[in-house]
Amino acid sequence: QPKYLADYAPPPVTVTHVDLHFRLDPLATRIRARLTCERREPGEMVLDGEQLKLISIAMDGAALDPSRYTLTDTALTLHDAPDRFILETEAEIAPETNKALEGLYMSGGMYCTQCEAEGFRRITWMLDRPDVMATYDVEIEADLPVRLSNGDEVAPGKWHDPWLKPTYLFALVAGNLVATSDRFTTVEGREVALNVWVRPGDEGRTGYALDALKRSMLWDERVYGRAYDLSVFNIVAVDDFNMGAMENKGLNIFNSRYVLASPETATDSDYANIERIVAHEYFHNWTGNRITCRDWFQLCLKEGLTVFRDQQFMQDERSAAVQRIGDVLTLRARQFREDAGPLAHPVRPESFVEINNFYTATVYEKGAEVIGMLRRLVGPEGYAAGCALYFERHDGEACTIEDWLDCFAEATGRDLSQFKLWYSQAGTPVVTVREDFKNGRYRIDLKQETPQTPDQPNKAPLVIPLAFGLLGRDGREIQATRIHALDTATDRLEFDLDEKPILSMLRGFSAPVILQHDQTDADRLILLAHDTDPFIRWEAGRMLSKSRLMAAVTDGAGFDAGWLDALHRLATDEAADPAFRALALALPSEDDLAGSLHAASVVPDPDRIHAARKSAQRAIADRLADDLPALRAAMAVPGPYDPRAADAGKRALGATLLRLQTLRDGGDAARAAYAAADNMTDRMAAFTCLLEARDTSVAAAFEQDWKHDRLVMDKWFMAQVAHADPSEAVAQAEALTQRADFDASNPNRFRAVLGGLSAGNPAGFHRADGAGYALLADWLITLDASNPQTAARMSAAFETWRRYDADRQTLMRAALERMRDAASSRDLREMTDRMLG
Ligand code: ARG
Ligand code: ZN
Repeated sequence: QPKYLADYAPPPVTVTHVDLHFRLDPLATRIRARLTCERREPGEMVLDGEQLKLISIAMDGAALDPSRYTLTDTALTLHDAPDRFILETEAEIAPETNKALEGLYMSGGMYCTQCEAEGFRRITWMLDRPDVMATYDVEIEADLPVRLSNGDEVAPGKWHDPWLKPTYLFALVAGNLVATSDRFTTVEGREVALNVWVRPGDEGRTGYALDALKRSMLWDERVYGRAYDLSVFNIVAVDDFNMGAMENKGLNIFNSRYVLASPETATDSDYANIERIVAHEYFHNWTGNRITCRDWFQLCLKEGLTVFRDQQFMQDERSAAVQRIGDVLTLRARQFREDAGPLAHPVRPESFVEINNFYTATVYEKGAEVIGMLRRLVGPEGYAAGCALYFERHDGEACTIEDWLDCFAEATGRDLSQFKLWYSQAGTPVVTVREDFKNGRYRIDLKQETPQTPDQPNKAPLVIPLAFGLLGRDGREIQATRIHALDTATDRLEFDLDEKPILSMLRGFSAPVILQHDQTDADRLILLAHDTDPFIRWEAGRMLSKSRLMAAVTDGAGFDAGWLDALHRLATDEAADPAFRALALALPSEDDLAGSLHAASVVPDPDRIHAARKSAQRAIADRLADDLPALRAAMAVPGPYDPRAADAGKRALGATLLRLQTLRDGGDAARAAYAAADNMTDRMAAFTCLLEARDTSVAAAFEQDWKHDRLVMDKWFMAQVAHADPSEAVAQAEALTQRADFDASNPNRFRAVLGGLSAGNPAGFHRADGAGYALLADWLITLDASNPQTAARMSAAFETWRRYDADRQTLMRAALERMRDAASSRDLREMTDRMLG
């Protein structure tokens, strides 16, 4: 049943042009397909097709005799196909009943599609694989005002896409929609119409997405020399969507939460997500669409690169330091956790059962880090030269990681064969640093080691770019940033110096590794105050906090004045960016602490971790008490709401301070802040503070104000679970699932409640009696019957089961076994099988 990278073979017969005619109907949509087929090698032609009713089939204009084909649940096989022919089929499907949200389905009365990775086969019979690239003509027949597909519109409801594309980039949208429009002239002089399509009533919330799109188009021209290539670029917002968004050629389809924003309904982080995802999908037009993947094992070719590009864009548009710290936080929270458990896999997996299970933090976020390391190793000019060669050589092709790396090897003359291991070796390398200073000689001993992962017991040394610098005891930099490429298991660096310096290692988080470096508090305090690299300043502060929290969990240790003073200095440092101060004051998450304790061979106790964090927050609140009112006042943002980074940073620090204030006044300040809030960022900050202060009275008022708004109500659902007392979180989640407006078929709502528990309230989820595990398992089994993709994805909440004590392990294991036995999809079955090991 698994597919293997090593088994790749091109199809014997390919399709060069696709003609599609849709007659839309909720329960009986008819699809007539006319495929222009060409033989490349001898062999049968096997077309993919699932859940399709065959109405008719013809070859070269004549009905095809049943003896010449075989039809199964998953395939249509043509036995004696000639060298060139036209295949015509007519299929019938029922989009209304499609709750898997794959293929053609309905959401809120509109028709839409999601074809990546293998959804097209639920629309018609076709070679549903990315190395078959064709031009498309599409005609949509429906009594609906808006009918969209890929490419350029040649007549109402008729579309022609001149660019070669694989099936996964096909899209269709039809419904009663309204657009907010703008124009963009490309650097090549092409006039492009830009539209953001939404349901009537939502037009007032499209401005930011449109603005982000224009900035993305400009940025890709300026930084990568890539211009847009059609006369129209459409974005559509859809309420029921499994993922964030999809880069279909010329017709991007988005989860509505990543399009719609107004100050009253969206938070600063919603705005940032919209900006990033709009850019991400737009950037795919070159990295993904014009140059696509040969097969799904190469997914990181487009995803890692495109994530890297959206991160670069966000660094340029916002604060580079804050963006980098945020990206590292996400990587550690999701990818390091994945790499440390039973779901660990290489950036380029070598086998899979269900490809949808491999749209992971490893493929995306670690994939982006690999691109960043490549850029660090070959330098910005080498990177630009390699990219230019890649775009020139492979435009219009379906490529592999080898194609990509060859461009860099050729453009820079570098041997990248060892670097390539980053694509095949799973697990997070641990780099250990030991320092020694004697008689004017300073030595850094380096060691790298990658722990074993499923199916990979032996690991080889990787090429690890270590960016580092040295500071004197007075905090002055005595060695500016240098990059050392560590490519052996051990290595040593030596310097002649008068005194022992302070090592600033892994500046900018130059490689996705775990750094083991026993630095003293004194050194960390100097780095926190003086390092030239903002990531290192933040990291030094985080390490100081983490060591206190770990000690508090394991020995019940209290919080020392030295640490609290350092946080006080940070909080009151008016010269520092408020967003940076907010990040530096944030304590490591409960899940981060659980993972670190486990790595240190301590069995993590979720309740103790929760309690230790709470008491640390109280200690910080007490230390900052005298300053809180003035600090909060200084973070007040005058004037109308502006989503840009400067104001957002102030609101973020303001929210951190309000949370501390709430620990002292029981919610008085938060109640006032809630009443005064004129935007959703401030309102959510106050609301969640009050929930943590166990003042739930405001929940009713919130609901009254926002019950008409799905996206805002998703926040309401999630907050009440994520910010509940851990002892009440399961009951709270369960109660919310009983409400009439809990619609399990809407992934956003489902995630709000069940993800609010498993990711948002770790101590609640890991309740000792297993009630959290049971509730999640019950719901995932239910969801799996209709929407395997989201059920399988959310089952990763159990990937950490081996971290915990014997009783919890038994309970988590039982939940996993129950899900495996009840799984109706191969998606959930594969996930549970892998987690059980
Ligand atoms: N390519 C889309 C994006 O990253 C995600 C599509 C996810 N599809 C899936 N079947 N998991 O931008
Ligand atoms: Zn993507």
